[in-house]
Amino acid sequence: MNLDSSPLDQTDVEGFFSLVEKNIGVALDASKVYLIHSRLSSIVTEHRFAGHSALLRFLITNPVGEIHWQAFEAMTTNETSFFRDIHPFEILKTTIFPDLIHKRKDSRELNIWSAASSTGQEPYSIAILLREHFPELTGWKIRILATDISEQALEKASLGIYNQTEIQRGLSEAQIQRHFKKLPNGYYEINPDLRSIVQFKQMNLIQDWPLMAKFDLILIRNVLIYFNQVTKSQIVKRLYTQLLDSSSYLILGSSESILFDQTYKIVQLDRVSYYQKR
Ligand SMILES: C[S@@+](CC[C@H](N)C(=O)[O-])C[C@H]1O[C@@H](n2cnc3c(N)ncnc32)[C@H](O)[C@@H]1O
Repeated sequence: MNLDSSPLDQTDVEGFFSLVEKNIGVALDASKVYLIHSRLSSIVTEHRFAGHSALLRFLITNPVGEIHWQAFEAMTTNETSFFRDIHPFEILKTTIFPDLIHKRKDSRELNIWSAASSTGQEPYSIAILLREHFPELTGWKIRILATDISEQALEKASLGIYNQTEIQRGLSEAQIQRHFKKLPNGYYEINPDLRSIVQFKQMNLIQDWPLMAKFDLILIRNVLIYFNQVTKSQIVKRLYTQLLDSSSYLILGSSESILFDQTYKIVQLDRVSYYQKR
């Protein structure tokens, strides 16, 4: 671990922050300078830079390459948990999935996208919810696409293995018993039948999007808050074209809103807002 905490050149910090924003959309300001020390130390050590200042100099004076992507990824926040902010999952259970199941009864197909899925707790929570409350979906084609920019987060997500603390954040003892296998090392692995519903793919929300299916439900939670207004509204416009039709749903994080985009209809239900095509 590199414990260098020497002062950083402000121009280098600004140069690095603008590289981060240009490449991954995450907008950082002076209040986030401490993240350079706390998040980039392992890169300083691994690549034998003299310190954080030397790493920043390298990053701003060289074309974007592998070390840059390591640094960009380190500046993202991967905080998540199973059934995070429980309310949207309540609405999914009581309102959204019953409606979608009714509307898609002929195609018997549901396409769901968890955009910025971090280490997988969000898409697996949806898989668990569907398994526990909608037995009528047996025989349907259910696909949950989970994407994130962070390869490390996706690697963990696709393994579906969590430690004791992670598993206890949001899951009941009964849910742990039902959907996970305890491994000899004390970790918990999600059952293969749930694992197989979720497909993980790396994707940068601010670059070109691959050709994807249209979705019945998109969750993009706790990531738009990191972007500036222009980036946010570009992403929100693109999400609109990814919703299958006016009965599809878009759900954001509890502190996020896209009221600025009039093409969406906003519906407020209990404590949850969701969006649909007008
Ligand atoms: C705070 S987590 C949110 C996880 C989950 N959606 C939740 O609400 O619990 C934010 C995620 O956004 C991802 N992220 C940040 N910038 C991104 C970008 N440009 N494209 C795709 N994912 C990005 C990060 O890697 C991180 O995993």
